[in-house]
Amino acid sequence: ISPEQFAKIVIDWQAQHGRNDLPWQRENNPYHVLVSELMLQQTQVKTVIPYFERWITRFPDVSALSAASEDEVMQLWQGLGYYRRARNLQAAATTVVNQYDGQIPSSALELREIPGIGAYTVGAIRAFAYDAPGAIVDGNVKRLFARLFTLPFLINKSSHDRYFWDLAEHYTPQSQNRRFAQGLLDLGATLCKPKQPDCEVCPFHASCLSLKHDQVSAFPKRQAK
Ligand code: ADE
Repeated sequence: ISPEQFAKIVIDWQAQHGRNDLPWQRENNPYHVLVSELMLQQTQVKTVIPYFERWITRFPDVSALSAASEDEVMQLWQGLGYYRRARNLQAAATTVVNQYDGQIPSSALELREIPGIGAYTVGAIRAFAYDAPGAIVDGNVKRLFARLFTLPFLINKSSHDRYFWDLAEHYTPQSQNRRFAQGLLDLGATLCKPKQPDCEVCPFHASCLSLKHDQVSAFPKRQAK
């Protein structure tokens, strides 16, 4: 499947069936994207929503977050777990205030230099905030690729991450990146689920290799612990 065909399938499906009313989608605000993506890294959408709303109300922009006390930041994060994310978020806000006049940059090189912003968040900010090409790889995206192409790569082995990133970059389109990135996540979360995926209604029904070989449950591969 060509990158153009792949992108069209994801984009058309997202427009019809994807999620387009999540609170962080209301504005294409890079700060909202940063906050939501860090919250979503280890936490489900429905848990994140009220935390996101409270956070944006209390810390509406990077300046407010940068100026807040660590106690208050931790208090608002309380219950989400993985507290290093909250500290990273505040450190990122402070860097943006000090080095970028409060404007979260759009270039991958600049984003990557900001503490707390990793490869996934770079792609997410570029795609969701700026509608610019940005590859994203998370558990949802790995599972989708692994099943579509019957990949032997292990989704829980970090030395295999680059294979998934190479694929994600190969298939990243030059336009409609916001819808494309959201579509990848939505497909992984709502159809290509870990258990009982909804293959009958999947837009990749005709091209998914693991489905063709009746091997969907054998993918993705993971390293035995
Ligand atoms: N998980 C991570 N990012 C997400 C997003 N933008 N929408 C829904 N689920 C997500």
